[in-house]
Amino acid sequence: DVPELDKRYENSFDIGAAVEPSQLEGKDAAMLKHHYNSIVAENAMKPINIQPEEGRFNFEEADKIVKFAKENNMELRFHTLIWHSQVPDWFFLDKDGNKMIDEKDPKQREKNKKLLLKRVETHVKTVVKRYKNDVASWDVVNETIDDNPQNSRGLRESPWYQITGTDYIKVAFETANRHAGKNAKLYINDYNTEVEPKRTHLYNLIKDLLAQGVPIDGVGHQAHIQIGWPSIQETRDSINMFAGLGLDNQITELDVSLYGWPPRPAFKTYEEIPDEVFKAQADRYNELFELYEELDDKISSVTFWGITDNHTWLDDRAREYNDGVGKDAPFVFGPDYKVKPAFWAIID
Ligand code: G3I
Repeated sequence: DVPELDKRYENSFDIGAAVEPSQLEGKDAAMLKHHYNSIVAENAMKPINIQPEEGRFNFEEADKIVKFAKENNMELRFHTLIWHSQVPDWFFLDKDGNKMIDEKDPKQREKNKKLLLKRVETHVKTVVKRYKNDVASWDVVNETIDDNPQNSRGLRESPWYQITGTDYIKVAFETANRHAGKNAKLYINDYNTEVEPKRTHLYNLIKDLLAQGVPIDGVGHQAHIQIGWPSIQETRDSINMFAGLGLDNQITELDVSLYGWPPRPAFKTYEEIPDEVFKAQADRYNELFELYEELDDKISSVTFWGITDNHTWLDDRAREYNDGVGKDAPFVFGPDYKVKPAFWAIID
């Protein structure tokens, strides 16, 4: 008899969750069916899982998520075609097994660039063709902007960038566009998109790419945020900025950590977290969803980076910074699958 979250927002945007294939049965699946109308793979669709060796594609885990989405009539987001993390090393090795980034000879560097762009094209084409009828939104490239930019444009100096400049982004979008379904939308996804200077660097990059005719439909705002950060005004400005370029916005990886950065000190267990912290988190969720509703003509979906507080990457973070012991609780459902104050904050 708990109200359905996705129904509450059906006139505004989709409500999604990130899932592992192991969560497609039992209690997690029941939560998905009740509260969400969209899903995304937390890990199963990343390059390291999809193409662990060159030419050996592994779709088994990804297929399970596609099947679940279809059977339950849910939208599917694809995360992610290109990223600097969770990508196998072979992408960046030349034909002799040498690291492309170490190459000094300009002619060989040019060859390496061609080879890497060819690999981008092959990966994107193979995946997009397979799922073109299933996926509504694609994260084409993820996290292209640096937090502490070494270069003035703020671009992340990943191997992708060091070897191809921004051409990997162009090739990825153009290839995805060529093979995706007619109604599919292509996103550039990143975190801390609310704050300066990162959001302006992202804005400038997208503006440049659009001017060159690169087919970008929208910005994915990961929204790995905290109770007190970033501000609502920064969040509003960011959505409006990208909408000003004629782009859609999606909130793609929402979680509201109880902690600042770094997450230290952390509560050791869920039971230890005081009521007033859950209350503060509920207030935060309230202001956030009020904003999303205010901007709902500019936001097509809001996806949480998990389902309940029993499974969140933030626990790894809490442990990492607290000698191996720590618990975060970023969602609107507790580890017992029960609603938290944050749930009622975004329902009422
Ligand atoms: O699959 C292996 C398993 O075989 C092995 O035994 C185990 C031991 O550590 O590791 C498992 O891999 C882990 C993987 O998650 C699957 O559980 C990796 O160590 C772990 O690093 C990986 O973490 C993921 C992280 O991306 C990697 O950067 C998180 O689950 C995932 O939530 C997180 O998601 C990212 C988004 O893709 C992009 N935006 C940020 C977000 C949070 O970091």
